[in-house]
Amino acid sequence: MSRKGLKVFSGSSNPKLARDICSNLMIPFGSSRIERFPDGEINVKIDDDVRGADVFIIQSTCPPVNEHLMELLILIDAIRRASADRITAVLPYYGYARKDRKDEGRVPITAKLVANIITTAGVNRVLTLDLHAAQIQGFFDIPVDHLTAAGLISDYFKDKKVVDGLSSDDVCIVAPDVGSSKMAFSFAEKIGGNVAIIEKRRINSTLTEALNVVGDVEDKHCIFIDDMIATGGSMVNAAAFVRDRGAKTVGISATHAVFAGNAYEKLLGTDLINNVVVTDTIPLDESKLTKPVTVLTVAPILAEVIRRIHLSESVSIMFDNAGRSSIRNYVNIAGRQQG
Ligand code: R5P
Repeated sequence: MSRKGLKVFSGSSNPKLARDICSNLMIPFGSSRIERFPDGEINVKIDDDVRGADVFIIQSTCPPVNEHLMELLILIDAIRRASADRITAVLPYYGYARKDRKDEGRVPITAKLVANIITTAGVNRVLTLDLHAAQIQGFFDIPVDHLTAAGLISDYFKDKKVVDGLSSDDVCIVAPDVGSSKMAFSFAEKIGGNVAIIEKRRINSTLTEALNVVGDVEDKHCIFIDDMIATGGSMVNAAAFVRDRGAKTVGISATHAVFAGNAYEKLLGTDLINNVVVTDTIPLDESKLTKPVTVLTVAPILAEVIRRIHLSESVSIMFDNAGRSSIRNYVNIAGRQQG
């Protein structure tokens, strides 16, 4: 049976991003209804005919994580039973990714469990961005297209550096922990400047401390890059650490703005941080924005990759070896600060 057409549906985690993806693809947004039964159970109704279609379901498994994950599974089930030809789960943010190994006895590997559940529900492919650990791709026994927003974010800072008249000697790219050092080196290659790496110790799920910094941050404009900001603790501690060592300014950036707990207050209520840059893989709570935050949209990149998957064209050709896309068509949304 041949695939009829391209259809995009969305859960309730990020409908704005899903609509922006459809606008970029110049296709209508798939019509579906997600409702709650009085006892809290989720019900889904797909309004459009999907028989034989190539269906993409956009859903970030961001907070409330379990609700969004369950919605995704039920959407997959409904679309599979409606005889779609192929289903791709588009997960701009993949939750539970940090539980990716047994780091002590008698603990789960939830990133693998979630991969199994999504596959069992009936998807044929996964498309995702900046997994916490790249090897999570291998937790799926189906094709995974793993993209990065590093190019989008580094382009933003490259442009900003030109506007602010900074030379490479003024700038230091900071990895707030060892895990983000690869991203930091890739940034420095694009933006210029030296790299510094913070030695971070995690005390528990909400508390971290900065122990040391390898690299010169004195008199530098520091740009932090990480895959995600969760409680904001890692970024704020690292910002305080480099400020103590003479950093002039601190701009922080990450692909995924999880912003859990009191992250908004922590990140926006401090003078240690001058600039916050994230993408729209997870929507921000606008009511908690006490300062401007720059939000770069991943919609053009996801739309182009969806188009290529649908037409069986190469995806990797869009990215260079450091994962940078040639698509620079980012826009600031929701009236946020322009670089
Ligand atoms: C951890 O390895 C991640 O890359 C982030 O650094 C971490 O999840 C940030 O957590 P938080 O914002 O709660 O400090």
